[in-house]
Amino acid sequence: MMAQSLPKPALRPYLAADTPMLAVIFAAAVQELTGDDYSEAQQEAWASVADDEAAFGKKLAGQLTLIATLQNSPVGFASLKGADHIDMLYVHPSVAGQGVASMLCDALEKLAGSRGARKLTVDASDNASEFFKKRGYVATQRNTVTVNGEWLANTTMQKTLDSGGAKP
Ligand SMILES: CC(C)(COP(=O)(O)OP(=O)(O)OC[C@H]1O[C@@H](n2cnc3c(N)ncnc32)[C@H](O)[C@@H]1OP(=O)(O)O)[C@@H](O)C(=O)NCCC(=O)NCCS
Repeated sequence: MMAQSLPKPALRPYLAADTPMLAVIFAAAVQELTGDDYSEAQQEAWASVADDEAAFGKKLAGQLTLIATLQNSPVGFASLKGADHIDMLYVHPSVAGQGVASMLCDALEKLAGSRGARKLTVDASDNASEFFKKRGYVATQRNTVTVNGEWLANTTMQKTLDSGGAKP
């Protein structure tokens, strides 16, 4: 298949008005991109986290949330919790595999580095652990968490940032 050249994604900070669109991206990413690693019941429980839009918006607003857009429409988002923890990273299935998550992570790593963080951690879902491994994150701990009554496994992974921030 011929690869089409797509417009390059842009990044911008989260605005409260983005919440409904990000809830859609969140649920679609979980439902369509995590089926190899999680059961349908687990996916359903995880996806429903965004059903309460007010609570979801509060979480997005309480962290440093960046949005990736294509032709001004949000297609993915990522958030930094505190100085050194990546909390959320979700990309719409229609643009998966095109470098959107990499762009979001590059930006969060630079921001964390410029804020003085020496390392970054993430509780990576099983489908995202390979993505983080490729970026130099190393597994430190296996976890099991409950989400809406379902048990889900994830892995805490850590990356040491270069002094002065991640490389460009
Ligand atoms: C994980 C996720 C964010 C990746 O988004 P993406 O935009 O498709 O990722 P990118 O295109 O930037 O991928 C970068 C690299 O990681 C690899 N990669 C991405 N997802 C992968 C997966 N599920 N399994 C193996 N490798 C993967 C890509 O192949 C690519 O490798 P390359 O540089 O050698 O070509 C996306 O699949 C997603 O939203 N998943 C569901 C939600 C989730 O689990 N989020 C993580 C919570 S911690």
